[in-house]
Amino acid sequence: MSIIKICNLTKQYTEAERARVVLNQVDVDFVAGEFIVLLGPSGSGKSTLINLISGVDEVDEGQIHVNGTNVTMLNEKQRTLFRRDHIGIVFQSFNLIPTLTVLENVSLPYELQGKSRKEASQRAQAMLERVGLGDRSASFPDRLSGGQQQRVAIARALVHEPLVVLADEPTGNLDRKTSEEVLSLLLEMTRGVGKTLLMATHSMDIIPLADRIYRIDNGQLVEDTERLKRGALLRAELESQMHAQIAAHMEHS
Ligand SMILES: Nc1ncnc2c1ncn2[C@@H]1O[C@H](COP(=O)(O)OP(=O)(O)OP(=O)(O)O)[C@@H](O)[C@H]1O
Ligand SMILES: [Mg+2]
Repeated sequence: MSIIKICNLTKQYTEAERARVVLNQVDVDFVAGEFIVLLGPSGSGKSTLINLISGVDEVDEGQIHVNGTNVTMLNEKQRTLFRRDHIGIVFQSFNLIPTLTVLENVSLPYELQGKSRKEASQRAQAMLERVGLGDRSASFPDRLSGGQQQRVAIARALVHEPLVVLADEPTGNLDRKTSEEVLSLLLEMTRGVGKTLLMATHSMDIIPLADRIYRIDNGQLVEDTERLKRGALLRAELESQMHAQIAAHMEHS
């Protein structure tokens, strides 16, 4: 089943009267429930694509359907409401509101959906427990480490149970170990529960975990099945190494 369907999408930016085509007649159909990795060099248009899907930015041509709604037909206000209700977004720079506590940051999207403050707080607290930060709800974001802030941002992105989760280089500001933790948390909270995760990244560590890989190349979105296969082989190899190690350990003990 398709969750994000993009037809003939074109986006260009004009600067100093020169037009730069970033996305050129892109067609793609993302399958619901998958973890989709979006690759491409800096400036290739990954963030642009994510911003068009979330309705932060407007297309020049073409259509984007998200969960059956044609977001390109909505005006700005309608797009904001659609995003609030149906999409979760995680950014590279966390984007938490500095003047709100951790709990308030997470409960805000839920409260904006018209839920009572009490209900929103309870739900936000439960989300914070799930990301391992139940004891930090009263802290302000600047008291938390980068990895912790990103875990709060993940709780915030998922508190209203969106079907579509967009992540723009969510591990870009984190060290390798923290990146792994944040990534596995994101996957744990989206995979197998019907959510679709579309992640723009430069991190090749993620490849073995992807269900599908796309790259943006000269304005076109190309599926990279070769890289996906290599990633799957690498994953199988790592798993068999791990099983061999466990077996050896059991023999010796
Ligand atoms: N508001 C804007 N005005 C003008 N040009 C823009 C604007 N936003 C993006 N661009 C241009 O669009 C192109 C794609 O940018 P985008 O941010 O989508 O790249 P990216 O793939 O996300 O790069 P990175 O990996 O560095 O994040 C770039 O050439 C950029 O300069
Ligand atoms: Mg970007």
